[in-house]
Amino acid sequence: MHKILANTVFLGKDIRFLTECHSTSDLAAQYFKEGNAKEGTIVITDKQTRGRGQRGNQWYSEPSKNLTFSLVLTPTFLDATEQFYLSMAVSLGVHDALSAYIGEIYIKWPNDFVHQKSGKIGGMLIENQLSTKGIDLSIVGIGINVNQTSFPFPNVTSLALLAGSPIAKEEFFKFLVKAIEDHYLLLSRGRRRHIRNSYLERLFRANEWALFDDGELFEGKILGITDEGKLRIEKQDGRLISYAFKEVSFIW
Ligand code: BTN
Repeated sequence: MHKILANTVFLGKDIRFLTECHSTSDLAAQYFKEGNAKEGTIVITDKQTRGRGQRGNQWYSEPSKNLTFSLVLTPTFLDATEQFYLSMAVSLGVHDALSAYIGEIYIKWPNDFVHQKSGKIGGMLIENQLSTKGIDLSIVGIGINVNQTSFPFPNVTSLALLAGSPIAKEEFFKFLVKAIEDHYLLLSRGRRRHIRNSYLERLFRANEWALFDDGELFEGKILGITDEGKLRIEKQDGRLISYAFKEVSFIW
């Protein structure tokens, strides 16, 4: 089924909906390789049989209840060293859309979406294809818990649980894609500093002492992000350490 979003400039002008597939990100990459998708194409499904999450995890989502989709982007305006700017821009779009529905939403570094008290509401998996020129292709896979109300894991929630009633999923999807596009266009116009500052303002546990694990449990304070997207954490002995993804995890 092909659909078109009317409220955007380029994102979602070509939507491929599948009732079931293994992973929308794998399909989006395949379509692009075959010349069958371009910047702005969205692949979305009601049921993923092999949804992939960060850190090699699987992404579980109750069929038909949630949003599981992937964006095809070609951010040729970014250098390979600027990959994290794309991550920040898309995260801001998702954050803004979620925040329009419910309060207390934060971006948990690098690109999880969490509710202050109730836990994770969604996540993102970005896969970039780099060349000497920069980022040739970015497949941005997004999973948002919308109407699922029970989860097999702790610290996971959904929009419906937080709002206390079911959410009109299609309407939220349109709103979400528009918010992502707005931030992507800002980035394409060079608004890097704005994107970075907004990201830092919405960062979960920034500037407060909290528990982390880098092989050992420690108390630290997030002070910022490096240009490559590493997390800068101050330890209690005053040392400032920059962590790459997978080198540190949050303790709830
Ligand atoms: C995470 O938080 O671990 C990232 C989750 C990303 C899941 C989405 S669902 C749509 C797209 N297709 C996939 O296989 N994964 C992403």
